[in-house]
Parts: sequence; C-alpha cells; structure tokens
Amino acid sequence: MNYLLIKHLHVTAAALSILFFVIRAYWSVSESAMLQKKVVKIAPHVIDTVLLAAAIMLSVLLGPAAAQPWVLTKIVLLIAYIGVGTIAIKRGRTPRSRAIAAVVAVLIFIYIVGVAIKHHPASWFF
Ligand code: HEM
Repeated sequence: MNYLLIKHLHVTAAALSILFFVIRAYWSVSESAMLQKKVVKIAPHVIDTVLLAAAIMLSVLLGPAAAQPWVLTKIVLLIAYIGVGTIAIKRGRTPRSRAIAAVVAVLIFIYIVGVAIKHHPASWFF
C-alpha cells in the first residue's frame, strides 16, 4: 500500500483519537451516562488500533530509517497517553483527578504531534 495513504490514515486516526478522547473525558468528569453506551466504549479501541496499525506499517515501510530516537519516543509516549487516558476516563476516583489526568493526556498528545512533525524527541522545543 502507498506510504502517503497510510500516513493520511495514521494522521486521521490520530485526529479522531484526540477528538473522541476530549469528548469522553468531558463525559467522565461530568459523570455522564453516555460513557456507558456500547459504541462509546468500543469506538476508541477501533480508532486507536487503526492509529497503531498504521504507525507500525509506516515504520515497516521506512525500514532501517525508522530506527530513530523520535520513533521510539512516539511509541513510549503513545503508551503514556493511553495509560494517563484510562485514568481520565475510568481509573481516576474523583472528577477532579480525572480532569487533571485528561489535561495531562492532551498535553502528551500535543507533544507527540510535535515529535511527529519535527522528527525529533524534543518535539516543539527543538
Ligand atoms: C498519539 C500518537 C501519535 C500521533 C498523534 C501521531 C501523529 C503523527 C503525525 C501528525 C504525523 C505526520 C507528520 C508529518 O507529516 O510531518 C505522523 C507520522 C508518522 N508517525 Fe505518528 N503519531 C502517533 C503515534 C505513532 C507511533 C506510536 C509511531 C511508531 C510506531 C508513529 C510513527 C510515525 C511514522 C513512521 C510517521 C511518518 C513520518 C514521515 O513520513 O514523515 N506514530 N504521526
């Protein structure tokens, strides 16, 4: 498959991921029943699977060129984004702790986009 096509898929999935995350985080903090809906529970997994699958395909297509610090940084931070994200959506005990986790997750996401665009672990600070 075409590299640019997969890259577009990757970026589109990333945009959908953060969009749905912010909506779910809002529902989590406001203790909305929307969060219990089946589609709301399943959609993020589908989106994040597409995001990661496309990322893996891009890395495979890049071959040895993918063995760079910024790619590793993205993998580590994606795991952090998902981990902190689960605190924001369900593991945080109070609305306040869930709200703080949501802000941290969004900041991690913004940092990852900087890493992606600059091709550097220092992200926007490079
Ligand atoms: C939340 C997580 C992620 C976000 C928001 C994200 C975002 C992006 C964006 C915006 C681009 C386009 C950059 C540009 O065109 O200048 C991109 C490209 C790319 N991403 Fe990700 N990404 C994420 C996770 C990952 C992970 C985990 C990997 C590695 C396994 C990865 C590997 C790549 C590769 C190889 C490219 C293509 C670079 C290029 O051709 O210039 N991404 N990503």
